[in-house]
Amino acid sequence: MPSKRAYVPFVSVEHMMGLVHHIGIEQVLTDLAAEIEADFRRWPLFDKMPRVASHSDVGVIELMPTSDGETYGFKYVNGHPKNTAEGLQTVTAFGLLAEVDSGYPTLLSEMTLLTALRTAATSAMAAKHLAPKGARTMAMIGNGAQSEFQCLAFKAVCGIDTVRLYDIDTSATTRCARNLAAKGLTVVECRSGQEAMEGAQIITTCTADKQYATILTDNMVGSGVHINAIGGDCPGKTELHRDILLRSSIFVEYPPQTRVEGEIQQLEHDHAVTELWQVIEGKASGRTDDRQITLFDSVGFAIEDFSALRYIAKAAKGTPFFTQLDMIADPDDPRDLFGMFQRAKPENH
Ligand SMILES: NC(=O)c1ccc[n+]([C@@H]2O[C@H](COP(=O)([O-])OP(=O)(O)OC[C@H]3O[C@@H](n4cnc5c(N)ncnc54)[C@H](O)[C@@H]3O)[C@@H](O)[C@H]2O)c1
Repeated sequence: MPSKRAYVPFVSVEHMMGLVHHIGIEQVLTDLAAEIEADFRRWPLFDKMPRVASHSDVGVIELMPTSDGETYGFKYVNGHPKNTAEGLQTVTAFGLLAEVDSGYPTLLSEMTLLTALRTAATSAMAAKHLAPKGARTMAMIGNGAQSEFQCLAFKAVCGIDTVRLYDIDTSATTRCARNLAAKGLTVVECRSGQEAMEGAQIITTCTADKQYATILTDNMVGSGVHINAIGGDCPGKTELHRDILLRSSIFVEYPPQTRVEGEIQQLEHDHAVTELWQVIEGKASGRTDDRQITLFDSVGFAIEDFSALRYIAKAAKGTPFFTQLDMIADPDDPRDLFGMFQRAKPENH
């Protein structure tokens, strides 16, 4: 018999949905924000590298690895803005954890849903540190797959009670509003980005376009707001006018990755930015005055996926929300891989 460790716990899409409903989505978002924040506090000890990206004319496929010395993790993720027109997701993902000591995998999980949850939890965690105190209203520009998760995370973690939705595709706004009904948020459907931003202290941009876009122009952004910029996450793919960046205090995950993928690809390569983990650890200032524009130039970093996978591994334990996958070939005699293979011949059964 293979050793127990040859079987890898696998969390399918069905399991992930069941597990998140079992715990409650707002609880999951709150827990994930805490888990991600805890890992940001031990940022220096992680292996870090910009994600490995394979670009095509229509999208990108990326691998995102990291390790804390005990546990290794990676995510496979794509970004294909054209997919929704073909009935497919813009972003799909799955991920794996492994034991550094043996290299044996310890979890395989779907991460399309988990990416939406972790991105929303990271955004809300960053806003908790950067947004104006007492912020209650968020503009949500781009009402696609990520949008409801973002709205609920800001409600659960930051106390947002009103979201103002805008999308160039009104059917996306209608769907988002419908999904958020009876979730304890006041939801306002708006006809322009400008209208969505009226009275908002937090502005989330979460659009998908494989080219430089200008979702926010400089004159749309007043002083004192926090911008949570999610959709600019690839070379050539940005959402904010450059002049907004020049007026903002900019906070990033991992500068070597964000300078290539984030909004700041529009700036000089040495433009001053602050690493979010340093604000969380009290090593750098976050928001220092009421008129300051804070900008979280989010691209998504491997440590956030690592935190999310570890959370799911713990949460799924002892529940029916995983199966054991026969994934690792593990002969009794570790060197007799071929013998194990031979014994599986149909005539030997
Ligand atoms: N930073 C991160 O960690 C992170 C994580 C996941 C996804 N993303 C990015 O977030 C973006 C959104 O992802 P998604 O899965 O929700 O995509 P999606 O395709 O489901 O939704 C995008 C929405 O943006 C709308 N849109 C496009 N151009 C617009 C414009 N000019 N004004 C208003 N709305 C516009 C589209 O109509 C669509 O409804 C993508 O660019 C994705 O790559 C970032």
